[in-house]
Formats: sequence, C-alpha cells, structure tokens
Amino acid sequence: MKELIKELVEVYGPSGEEAAVRALIEEKIKESVDRTFTDSLGNLFALREGAPPLLMFSAHMDEIGVIVTHIDDKGFLRIAPVGGVAPHLLVGQRLRFKNGVLGTVHHEKIKELKELDWSKLYVDIGAADGDAAKKRLRIGDMACLHQPFVDLGGRYMAKAMDDRIGCAILVEVARRLPPSLPQGVCFVFSAQEEVGLRGATTAAYRLDPGYGFAVDVTMVGDTPEAPLMAVSLGRGPAIKVKDRSLLCHPRVRELMVETAEKHGIPYQLEVLERGGTDAGAIHLSREGVPSGAVSIPCRYVHTPSEMVDAGDVEHAVELIEKLILLSWPSPDEGWT
Ligand code: CO
Ligand code: ZN
Repeated sequence: MKELIKELVEVYGPSGEEAAVRALIEEKIKESVDRTFTDSLGNLFALREGAPPLLMFSAHMDEIGVIVTHIDDKGFLRIAPVGGVAPHLLVGQRLRFKNGVLGTVHHEKIKELKELDWSKLYVDIGAADGDAAKKRLRIGDMACLHQPFVDLGGRYMAKAMDDRIGCAILVEVARRLPPSLPQGVCFVFSAQEEVGLRGATTAAYRLDPGYGFAVDVTMVGDTPEAPLMAVSLGRGPAIKVKDRSLLCHPRVRELMVETAEKHGIPYQLEVLERGGTDAGAIHLSREGVPSGAVSIPCRYVHTPSEMVDAGDVEHAVELIEKLILLSWPSPDEGWT
C-alpha cells in the first residue's frame, strides 16, 4: 500500500481542483468495481452493485491549499486560504501551483508572531517583476504544499494525508473484496470537503444510501502538551462517536465496535471537539441516513507534515472490509 499512498499524497488537488487525484484513483480502482462515474461537483463514484441497503463509504480527494488574490508590480503574490490553513505554518514552506510553478512563502516585518495574518504573507515565485509573474499565474490560481512522502519507519509523513490516506484505504478495500457481497457498496471519492463537506452533500443525495460512512483523518492527543484527547497514533483506527458535524448513529457505532472486537481488530473511540467529516453531510441527506466514521489517527493535521501509522492504516482496511461483509439490516425497520 505504501506506493499507492505515496502516489496519492503527492498529487496536486486543493478543493475544487481534484481532477488529477480523481484520474489517478479511477485508474487504480476501476478493475475492482462494476462501474465508475462522476458528477458535476467532481465527485468520483466507484460502485459494486448489490442488494439493498446500499453502503456509502466516502473519503475526500481535496486537500487544503491557497488561492492567489493579488499580484504586485514587483512580482510578489498575495494569497488567501482554501480550507483551514494557519498562516504561521506556511512561513518558509514551498507551494506548487497547478501548472507546476513553484514558490516560497514569507512574511513582512512583524514584532510578534501573533501579528502574522494573511495580510502579512506573500509568495515569491522568482519572477523578475509583475509582468513576468502574470505570465505564469493569474488571480484565482490555487496552490498546494510542496512536500514529498517519507517513510519514517512504520510511520508515514506527507502533505495531504488528510484525506488521501482515506482514498488509499478505500482503493485497497475495493481490491480485497470477494466476488460476492451481502449488499451493494459505493466508494465515493468526494470533492470540496475542506470548504464545507460540499461534494459529500450532493453525492449522498444522488446515491440515497441505506448507511453512510466517512473515512478520514482525526486528530490525536499524544504529542507534547496536546489538548487532551483519547486518540493516539498506533493504537488502531478510531470509531467516531462525535465531531462538530455529527453524532454518529448509536447502532451503527455499536455494530462497528462489535465487528472490530469479533475480528480482533484494535480500535479507539473518538470524540473530536473540532472539525467535521463527510458523514456530517451524509447523515442529513434526504430523510436522514444512519451514519458512522472510521478515522485514521493523524498528527499535525493541516500542516505540511501530516503523520499516520502504517499499522492503523492496515487495521482500518481490515475493519472496513469486515463492515462491508456484514449483512446490514434494513435501516427503515426501527433504526432509531
Ligand atoms: Co482536513
Ligand atoms: Zn479530512
């Protein structure tokens, strides 16, 4: 899986510009499903046909990034965030634009770090002047972080682990599934999660699934002076209880816990006080969809060096595979 993860995290794909990620995933998954299709928001669907209730598993393709707001006469760019980006984490970093232009982020004179906001940041792409810069980039062009994938020895570090790790997991699950399944399953590689769960909203409406699941990263509490949180790297995938976008359906959560225990898959329970996932959009679709989420513990979410544990990734694949092989009851019959 390591090669697949490396390929996926290194692709360019800020929110709304997921085309390269989508093409790569479609290539990797098409042999493992009955059909793939896309919609006008840019979601990619990979469907294994089967009996109802349809299971929807969603991992988002987009990553955090920045967008060009202004280009001055000296050739320096001003930028705004796309998704939840902290300006101080960009200082000294390299950016890569869709057309391959590279740049570095620096800041104007400040007395204290807290003065550092987006108005103080600029990007230098090495242009001699404004005209040279404008030949390479235009207002509205986006960039992602420019960082390679590295294996630290059982732990992987890269930009865009959020949520290409979820994409890699679903591709791997699709490859491992047997020829016959108890019910249909659709793997959704969603667009525009980082700007408000937008792709998952229309994807869930279209699929009208019986159950919905997000597969995404979650934060951890195991680093120096981290906010107290009962999730650590290396202790298994997290079964979400709650985040800012949803309260997971209690019976879905129970079935997930029972499945992990039955198969001896390590897991943790997750209460995330900040952030949301695609399941937040899915569970509010139409008349409501019982939903849950499998989360991958990740250090330094929304930084250039997001870190996950290879064992957690493998166990997440196993848990999702077992969830798909479970016979799910009709959600209409007393699922409250
Ligand atoms: Co994110
Ligand atoms: Zn995410």
